[in-house]
Amino acid sequence: MLKIGVLASGRGSNFQAIINAVKTGYLTARVEVLITDNPAAYAIKRAEDNGIAGLVMRPEEYSSPDTYYAAVADDLVKRDVGLVVLAGFMRVVRKPLIDLFPMRIMNIHPALLPSFPGLHAQRQAVSYGVKLSGCTVHFVDEGMDTGPVIIQAAVPVCHDDTEESLSERILKYEHRILPYAIRLFAEGRLEVKGRVVKIQGRTKKDEGVVVSPAIDR
Ligand code: GRF
Repeated sequence: MLKIGVLASGRGSNFQAIINAVKTGYLTARVEVLITDNPAAYAIKRAEDNGIAGLVMRPEEYSSPDTYYAAVADDLVKRDVGLVVLAGFMRVVRKPLIDLFPMRIMNIHPALLPSFPGLHAQRQAVSYGVKLSGCTVHFVDEGMDTGPVIIQAAVPVCHDDTEESLSERILKYEHRILPYAIRLFAEGRLEVKGRVVKIQGRTKKDEGVVVSPAIDR
């Protein structure tokens, strides 16, 4: 069975969505470990509540970012993790981790990449005035939110949205597409060809998760 290592820096609602997907049987996988860079992360409590090993690993305690990511990778390898999920991990991961998990690290980003990469994606979308934003699950490469896209959900933006209201609307879809992307990976249905990720055996039902209903108000 696929073993998952989750990296998260804060609240951990996406981490919770993964835990729930495993609990309900939607996802056949095991969450092996939560690693956080933030000792105050609420994600730690979620790990504890669900019998998942929770590790605090702070970059400040390592001599360089590369040493840090080598240590993180070492732990994940020791636990025989097959997929690393960045679920609100607020750092750009580096080569020592990426090299050991090529196309085996996923990130959830709260915008339709390549629009609005980096921090405060929802704020960027609101200030730009786009009418459509959403969220993206992608494989991680060395760039900032630049790796091959696995799945996206489109979410409407209203003219009176704030960063908070848009974040809340997008988050609901993050919680759907992240477990979905992990499930596709666990089922061996993701094939990466250059930048393009092919989803094998995609059905009409699969398409249903990617577009939110229009908002009528
Ligand atoms: C999410 O919006 C995620 O897309 C972004 O950071 C937020 C983390 O939320 N990268 P949570 O910690 O999963 O609740």
